[in-house]
Amino acid sequence: MKPLALIVAMSTNRVIGQQGNLPWHHAEDLQHFKRTTTGHAVIMGRKTADSLKHRPLPKRRNLVVTRQSDLLIPGFEIFTNLDTAIAAARNDDAQPFIIGGGELYTLALPQITTMYLTIVASEVTGDAFFPTFNEDEWQEREQRVSGPLTFRTLDRITAGN
Ligand SMILES: NC(=O)c1ccc[n+]([C@@H]2O[C@H](COP(=O)([O-])OP(=O)(O)OC[C@H]3O[C@@H](n4cnc5c(N)ncnc54)[C@H](OP(=O)(O)O)[C@@H]3O)[C@@H](O)[C@H]2O)c1
Repeated sequence: MKPLALIVAMSTNRVIGQQGNLPWHHAEDLQHFKRTTTGHAVIMGRKTADSLKHRPLPKRRNLVVTRQSDLLIPGFEIFTNLDTAIAAARNDDAQPFIIGGGELYTLALPQITTMYLTIVASEVTGDAFFPTFNEDEWQEREQRVSGPLTFRTLDRITAGN
């Protein structure tokens, strides 16, 4: 499989969003997100682009997936198909990142080779969720706990590893 990463912060009950926003503010996780994705292409669903208030993430190529073929958002490249977005991202990035939200994570998960998960140690109310996945198919490369946050890096187990 060609490298394709995903990065997400989720609560213990898998919530990632509430009414178009993150349900928490953890500066350390935002730093982790910035450090991990800077220099890479980031691919997101249209609702996540809305949640950024249409301000592209700096020092990253920003790609949006939507079913609206006429959508234009300055600073974002628009695609009506996930695979086309991934292929375009790979033109100048060996490991693009899927950065959400719930619909895009679900759509992309079968192609993901590395997951950067931040687990927020609380149960929160939300309307967007991270999909369930089989832990047996993943190998943990790294785990670091910092207060209520657990940072995990998981690599997909393939025939090669
Ligand atoms: N905690 C985190 O790490 C994290 C990260 C990112 C986002 N979030 C949160 O997640 C929430 C948004 O997630 P979400 O699941 O509601 O939306 P989303 O995945 O960001 O975007 C959904 C949109 O993507 C487009 N789309 C979905 N499937 C498609 C397909 N097969 N082909 C073409 N386009 C497709 C559609 O856009 P159109 O409707 O325009 O057609 C759809 O409405 C927000 O609350 C945000 O704050 C959390």
